Amino acid sequence: MKPNLKVKIGKMELQNPVMVASGTFGYAEEFKDFVDLKKLGVIVTKTITLKPRQGNPPPRTCETPAGMLNSIGLENPGMEKFIQEKLPFLKKTGVPIIVSIASESDTDEFITLARRLDAIKEVSAIELNISCPNIHEGRRARDEGRLVSQNPQATYEVVKAVRNVTRKTLITKLSPNVTDITEIALAAERAGTDAVALINTLMGMSINVKTRKPKIAMVTAGLSGPAIRPVAMRMVWEVYQKVKIPIIGMGGIMDTESALEFFLAGASAISVGTANFINPKTTIDIIAGLKKYLEKHKISGIKALVGSLII
Ligand SMILES: Cc1cc2nc3c(=O)[nH]c(=O)nc-3n(C[C@H](O)[C@H](O)[C@H](O)COP(=O)(O)O)c2cc1C
Repeated sequence: MKPNLKVKIGKMELQNPVMVASGTFGYAEEFKDFVDLKKLGVIVTKTITLKPRQGNPPPRTCETPAGMLNSIGLENPGMEKFIQEKLPFLKKTGVPIIVSIASESDTDEFITLARRLDAIKEVSAIELNISCPNIHEGRRARDEGRLVSQNPQATYEVVKAVRNVTRKTLITKLSPNVTDITEIALAAERAGTDAVALINTLMGMSINVKTRKPKIAMVTAGLSGPAIRPVAMRMVWEVYQKVKIPIIGMGGIMDTESALEFFLAGASAISVGTANFINPKTTIDIIAGLKKYLEKHKISGIKALVGSLII
């Protein structure tokens, strides 16, 4: 018997539960020579905003023990250029496309973005990035800035407003930079999100002791990679016990074994981020590895694994 890797997230029927994490796979075209894109469960785009953004000043990335810091600052061409220049290639892949969106200002920008994408047939789902730690300009704003996903009421309001203007599958991406992520996940669920994606990056910092300067121009930045995996896993497990909607788990997934851990903790699908920079074929290897694992253990399908942690 062939193991069944199919999963359903909102209205999306996916051939397998392996995705690429927003911002780590560009708009897919960048990876076309390295990865057989048709094999992916889903492609998630780099986050787009209404207007083009140049992103933050360099240096914007640095390596850290078992991970990396990034402060890209949502560099993107803006929605209209994305639709004209990036979407045609994405459509050709034949794989479901999730467009990640963020607002530089208020909820209205989310509504405008969602309305526009709602009208495009080939967009399968919208991911609300309410958790990017890198979009506050200047120290003052950064110190005072709060992410939407750090506040349950603000999360509820944004998700509800977008839910009202789109029937497409809606995914809400959550930040780990909170005391209790389950409160935020529950608020998103109450507001009508079809799934939650977690985690975005953890706030971090690194200093060059020779120059006494921060290694990242914006001083603080988002930590990703294997270093954050145990935190991400704990959060997926906590959220799984509280919500009924599917969870897309991510944070330091490097191989089949780390992907499997997330399914056992309660994720219905997984996303690969930082690993794409080390081995662009990580997703493809994981898809093959999941099949092998299911066959070896005589498990009929991936769904049987979700949340099957034994305590
Ligand atoms: C260079 C870089 C850029 C990222 N850009 C985005 C982004 O545009 N939107 C978003 O929602 N997450 C973004 N992320 C966060 C990832 O999607 C993911 O949530 C996080 O890195 C954890 O997964 P990982 O440890 O597998 O990388 C970015 C991460 C990295 C490393």
